[in-house]
Amino acid sequence: MSTSPSSESRVNAALVGCGGIARSQHLPNLTRAPNLRLQAVCDVNRAAAESAARDYGVPRVADRFEDLLADPAIDLIVVATREDFQVPLTCQALAAGKHVYVEKPLATTPEDCARVVAAQAASGKLVQVGFNRRFAPACREARRILVQRGGATNLYFRISDEYWNWGRANPPGVRVIHEVCHVFDLLRWLTGSDAASIYCACARPDDEIYTLTFRSGAVATIMNSGEVTCDLPKERLEIVTRDPGALIIEEYTELRTYGCRGEPAVMRFAGHTHPGSEFTHKLLFEKLGSPAVDAFRRLRWELRNRAEAGQLDPADAELRKFMEQSFPHVNYLVDKGWRAAIGHLADCILGRAAFDGAGPADALAASQLATAAIRSRETGEVVRLR
Ligand SMILES: NC(=O)c1ccc[n+]([C@@H]2O[C@H](COP(=O)([O-])OP(=O)(O)OC[C@H]3O[C@@H](n4cnc5c(N)ncnc54)[C@H](O)[C@@H]3O)[C@@H](O)[C@H]2O)c1
Repeated sequence: MSTSPSSESRVNAALVGCGGIARSQHLPNLTRAPNLRLQAVCDVNRAAAESAARDYGVPRVADRFEDLLADPAIDLIVVATREDFQVPLTCQALAAGKHVYVEKPLATTPEDCARVVAAQAASGKLVQVGFNRRFAPACREARRILVQRGGATNLYFRISDEYWNWGRANPPGVRVIHEVCHVFDLLRWLTGSDAASIYCACARPDDEIYTLTFRSGAVATIMNSGEVTCDLPKERLEIVTRDPGALIIEEYTELRTYGCRGEPAVMRFAGHTHPGSEFTHKLLFEKLGSPAVDAFRRLRWELRNRAEAGQLDPADAELRKFMEQSFPHVNYLVDKGWRAAIGHLADCILGRAAFDGAGPADALAASQLATAAIRSRETGEVVRLR
């Protein structure tokens, strides 16, 4: 049996951590991608690994992470465990000669991110961090247009929801580390520039505004709130371009262009599908764009209210089924690039593409921004980045 990626058309992967993001993204994506083969899963919670293997037809459940490292047939380790373990597991995998895809935030401190930067340099292997929004089709198109129009000068991003802390025990005020890291990375990627400064104005924990300047001369505002309700669209990006004009990305399903001759006024992007789930939404997003996402959000919110008020007809089996179907969450119905991101890494391992994802240095830059934002919140001062 040949196991070398150079002589195979697929990369042999193993997944460690079979929780929420694994079930909503990595398991469906790793088992569908034409250039990957998911060989094994592992979790400290053996039952989680067993049910993942059963549901997705994965051949093997490993008892210990070390068993995956010792297996020469495995080229790529996907780490989706939560930030406290992602650095040590990534460093161990690199030392064992594996490539790594590791979820964001890579770590909660810049110092820990820097450990992975060093470990990758020593290993010569690829590490991709789960800043998947770089691979969302709407963002790829936006960047293509930005390059033609002299870049971005002024950006606004809203990232808001109520769900981010569900079932988790995050202390107040750390959403900037765990969630806004995606936005820091996306803004760096879209401006092609590092941030020069950040200022944080805080109304209450996890409900705040950041103002950033970039070395390119661009400026940005991020509105971050974990305190709204799930019917508000979660992510919106507005960009002023250097050549007069603007772009708006709404929920990754719609890119609107203003003043961009030769570009369609509106581009719509299909949703993300999950095996075993129905895919009507995918077609609706492609045909209708962001109003379709808004309708899904509003419907869920209204039905939840009615259920809480005891107003759902218990005999209405269809409505009950819709309400009980908590998976996948609306967030995972839009295409934020998860599948393309992991597919890209596999292509790089196979030598078919040059690496264009976010690496550990990008995770370090995002972590430095989060740390600076927290310092600004505490001091009330603008924090300059070196
Ligand atoms: N890219 C995205 O859009 C996105 C979305 C959601 C979550 N995430 C990130 O993915 C990571 C996982 O989040 P989640 O919501 O799936 O968490 P989760 O708690 O639902 O799942 C984590 C799983 O990892 C297992 N685990 C923990 N430590 C382990 C270890 N040392 N060895 C083996 N298994 C271990 C747990 O038992 C659990 O099953 C987090 O870093 C999170 O920020 C990314």
